[in-house]
Amino acid sequence: MQPQNRQPIVAGNWKMNGDPALIEQMSAALAQVELNNVKVVVCPPTVYLSMLNAKNFSKGAQNVSDKSGGAFTGETSTSMLKDVQVEYVIVGHSERREYYVEDNLLVAEKVATILDAGLTPIFCIGESEQIRDAGQLFEFLAEQLDAVLNRVGVKNFANLVVAYEPIWAIGTGKTATPEQAQEVHHFIRQHIASKDEKVAQELVILYGGSVNGANATSIFAQPDVDGGLVGGASLKPAEFIKICQAANELR
Ligand code: 13P
Repeated sequence: MQPQNRQPIVAGNWKMNGDPALIEQMSAALAQVELNNVKVVVCPPTVYLSMLNAKNFSKGAQNVSDKSGGAFTGETSTSMLKDVQVEYVIVGHSERREYYVEDNLLVAEKVATILDAGLTPIFCIGESEQIRDAGQLFEFLAEQLDAVLNRVGVKNFANLVVAYEPIWAIGTGKTATPEQAQEVHHFIRQHIASKDEKVAQELVILYGGSVNGANATSIFAQPDVDGGLVGGASLKPAEFIKICQAANELR
């Protein structure tokens, strides 16, 4: 992380896990810690958002509709998320891309919808092991970035957060090395810088994929890594706080 004006973020993506007891435990545990240099975001399943007592952290959603309302069974709109004080929305997560067939176009549409609502997208990109092994890593990531760049324009990257999540590191315990993370984060920043240098320098880029209390410091210490998007470890309040503290202490 660089001691610039980039505010580090640690976001916990609970995925389809957790229950009311965990909502209470997490709210209580986070209320007790002082984390002045890091923005903490908790993203539980949608039904629990209103139960989260987000005293000194922010609420995030894991998904949102690209539509504003109407006959779309099972969907949730940005205005509904705002009704329960949501500030961030994860979009483009590889699990949604893979299991719910969300392509680059839909992801870009959702990013636009989230921005229009005044919420902050946590826009996820990341490659499979196959793509990395085939030497198509940067080409693939550029395509994912360009879909959103073309839809919302580079200036809007000042209003969103990018999360780099290599698919092979998600839930596998196989974290990218700090060097691998830095290499890709640098690429992402350069890609944005080729369109707007200032926006690129201020862009918050999170790393996600098997982040835990033991490896967070070395990953977050990389100059282009501005925090993390945490899955499994965000379900354990003490472990999650340890990760938040790692980001907090690097500033
Ligand atoms: P894990 O931290 O469980 O690998 O999950 C990462 C992730 O997908 C966060 O969005």
